[in-house]
Amino acid sequence: MPPDGSRDRSAAPLADVAGEPRTLRRLLVTGGAGFIGSCYVRDVLGRRDGTRITVLDKLTYAGNEANLAPVRDDPEMAARLEFVRGDIADAAVVEPLVEAADAVVNFAAESHVDRSILDPEAFLSTGVIGVHVLLDACRAAAGRPRYLQVSTDEVYGSVAEGESTEDAPLAPRSPYAAAKAAGELLVRSYVITHGVDAVVTRGSNTYGPYHHPEKLIPLFVTNALDDQPLPLYGDGLQRREWLYVSDHAGAVDFVLRNGASGETYNVAGPTERTNREVVALLLEHLGKPWSLVRHVEDRPGHDRRYAMDGSKLAALGWTPRTPFEDGLAATIDWYRANEAWWRAARSGDWDHWYQRQYAHRLAGGQEAEPLEAEAAPSTAD
Ligand code: NAD
Ligand code: TYD
Repeated sequence: MPPDGSRDRSAAPLADVAGEPRTLRRLLVTGGAGFIGSCYVRDVLGRRDGTRITVLDKLTYAGNEANLAPVRDDPEMAARLEFVRGDIADAAVVEPLVEAADAVVNFAAESHVDRSILDPEAFLSTGVIGVHVLLDACRAAAGRPRYLQVSTDEVYGSVAEGESTEDAPLAPRSPYAAAKAAGELLVRSYVITHGVDAVVTRGSNTYGPYHHPEKLIPLFVTNALDDQPLPLYGDGLQRREWLYVSDHAGAVDFVLRNGASGETYNVAGPTERTNREVVALLLEHLGKPWSLVRHVEDRPGHDRRYAMDGSKLAALGWTPRTPFEDGLAATIDWYRANEAWWRAARSGDWDHWYQRQYAHRLAGGQEAEPLEAEAAPSTAD
């Protein structure tokens, strides 16, 4: 433990990798125009090792082809990317793409807990039917491609103490988390019943560039840049482990190539922080005042804490590299430098969403009391 008592595992040494990593040259990446999926595509193609990627993405409000612009703008990488707009729940689209792939990496999902509370249906059609269609295509494909399901720590539900290991019970508490847990159970059933070669990753709360501005960190950064109020749910003492996006994408690729079939791996963020601590750090880096923060009506069923044990993946050879303070600073700098990107993401249906989610909350909100120690890391556990 560092001297300040906070949990920070980013400096942990890498263990030896057991066995030879798989060579997978043709990847189908579903949800590859979203936040984490596009990072995965940029990073894997950026290795310039000949890997070819087909992205299948429905381009929902959260999907954005501009997230792949760094690939498009580079002729060598662009030549190894194919983009297909389509739904993972559409078997006619999915089957030929899976047939042509060595592996399928499924990032596609509706990903925002607050939206799952207001409109849960799309979470089920993508998270359950979509996953079923992908798995069924893998079962039927001649080359028996490997399948990786990108899941979340939220399947464990709220964890009052300690850290969830991979064998802890699934106890989802939001429609989002329930759909993700259902997807995982389908994967398990296809491994056992049909012998599909599949692995699951469960990632912590992820942050970084190209994150849709509806989530905590990008919402608060972009609101603060505009000197708009920051709606902090409840007392703001909920705790999350924060994982930098390129670390999350790297862990997914590591498990794809090194994970044992049928296994699940926690991808634990290195740093646990309360939401208030995150906001204090973010405001400090932006040079904006705490008076922007409003305590607003809480999220129904709000999970108090997520915390995972990352030792299974560490034993296989992967640990996160990016300390939270460095990743947060890089993220804020990216939003400062890419105003056109986030202004475009905050257009279209954004105002309708923002009104629906926040108008009544902000109307009843209260100024938050600053705490002296806010910017210093908390003592966790
Ligand atoms: P995101 O919302 O930014 O991206 C999701 C992508 O999936 C979008 O491009 C969207 O257009 C696409 N999509 C949605 N429904 C689709 C469908 N039916 N067919 C094809 N494409 C579809 O989400 P994200 O934050 O990048 O999350 C990616 C994955 O990682 C999700 O499965 C999520 O559950 C998981 N995850 C996210 C976090 C996090 O903190 N963001 C943490 C752990 C796990
Ligand atoms: P979020 O980014 O939605 O991720 P998740 O719900 O998957 O953890 O939220 C992170 C934390 O921030 C969570 O405790 C809810 C809180 N939060 C707010 O306080 N205000 C907001 O406007 C949002 C979007 C989130």
